[in-house]
Amino acid sequence: MNEMTPVTDTATDLKPAKAVPALPDAQTVTQVKHWTDRLFSFRCTRPASLRFRSGEFVMIGLMGDPDPKTGKQKPLLRAYSIASPSWDEEMEFYSIKVQDGPLTSKLQHIKEGDEIILRPKPVGTLVHDALVPGKRIWFFATGTGFAPFASLLREPETYEKFDEVIITHTCREAGELTYGRELIESLKDDELLNEVIGEGFWKKIKYYPTTTREESPKMGRITDLMRSGEAFADLGVPPLNPESDRAMICGNLAFNLELKDLFENTYGLEEGANSRPAHFVVEKAFLD
Ligand SMILES: Cc1cc2nc3c(=O)[nH]c(=O)nc-3n(C[C@H](O)[C@H](O)[C@H](O)COP(=O)(O)OP(=O)(O)OC[C@H]3O[C@@H](n4cnc5c(N)ncnc54)[C@H](O)[C@@H]3O)c2cc1C
Ligand SMILES: NC(=O)c1ccc[n+]([C@@H]2O[C@H](COP(=O)([O-])OP(=O)(O)OC[C@H]3O[C@@H](n4cnc5c(N)ncnc54)[C@H](OP(=O)(O)O)[C@@H]3O)[C@@H](O)[C@H]2O)c1
Repeated sequence: MNEMTPVTDTATDLKPAKAVPALPDAQTVTQVKHWTDRLFSFRCTRPASLRFRSGEFVMIGLMGDPDPKTGKQKPLLRAYSIASPSWDEEMEFYSIKVQDGPLTSKLQHIKEGDEIILRPKPVGTLVHDALVPGKRIWFFATGTGFAPFASLLREPETYEKFDEVIITHTCREAGELTYGRELIESLKDDELLNEVIGEGFWKKIKYYPTTTREESPKMGRITDLMRSGEAFADLGVPPLNPESDRAMICGNLAFNLELKDLFENTYGLEEGANSRPAHFVVEKAFLD
């Protein structure tokens, strides 16, 4: 499991003579969309030299408040999954708004033309390289854990390597599913994927959204729906097995641990890593 603790970097000296000091590793925001009072997504410019694998994460942020004693400002950075695919000329992120969160209490107010800090050092375990070949790939997300799959669902390799792509997304409320649902709907008209993978590639995708605290067509935690067999019956596929199924998990800690236990002890799947590819990989959507 990949656990990169969000860190605050050492301050880069700011030259007091500069009227408007440029941020270190600055990128310009090109679009912001608010999905609910707790969720938003934004796009920004991509550093020319940045190469990443779909599913990886980077550290992004803003300048923190000036130190009351020295007046110096330090970058305030947090880990963020890159929601855009590796081929996109811009970067996209999908974010929570934590009202008293050091970063997102401010980040939620960014507008087109603003600058953010983006450290160009992508890492992560939710990558195709960490899985051995299979027939069917499952993406399991809760909340903002959908972000790395927003990248992987737009990545041609996903469809080149697998015959079936199943994405499950469990949220408390129905409105929290909208970013994911719209993204999946937009794939039908994705010119690059239609050209590279072939018309109708999107028919490989099975989308399984569920809510736990607000009425929606499918209620319940995905873990419970898998244990009861309901999810497999709804999707028309057998339970996961090591011969055909591969999976990526991104959610809160309890969700990740529950699925890992289910995979290892019920379905007989083995956890993989960049250095040792296997059947499934896990990453936290946030630190508890
Ligand atoms: C590998 C990794 C990838 C991440 N990718 C994303 C991402 O793509 N989008 C994103 O919004 N966040 C992501 N996070 C979480 C992110 O790093 C920050 O925690 C988040 O932006 C809030 O920052 P903050 O400074 O406002 O509050 P923090 O002090 O970081 O968090 C305050 C509290 O808010 C809650 N919280 C934090 N993040 C979330 C979240 N995403 N969903 C629900 N509750 C949360 C937790 O209870 C946390 O203790 C990721 C974290 C890790 C470790
Ligand atoms: N989402 C909101 O409307 C809301 C509003 C205000 C504050 N908050 C706070 O924000 C934080 C994060 O909330 P969040 O909703 O983004 O994320 P979350 O608490 O991780 O929940 C996201 C989804 O994951 C499900 N889930 C949790 N543990 C699971 C497990 N072990 N197995 C399977 N599914 C599991 C939840 O179901 P359950 O509902 O059954 O737990 C929910 O549907 C929390 O501290 C919360 O108090 C959230």
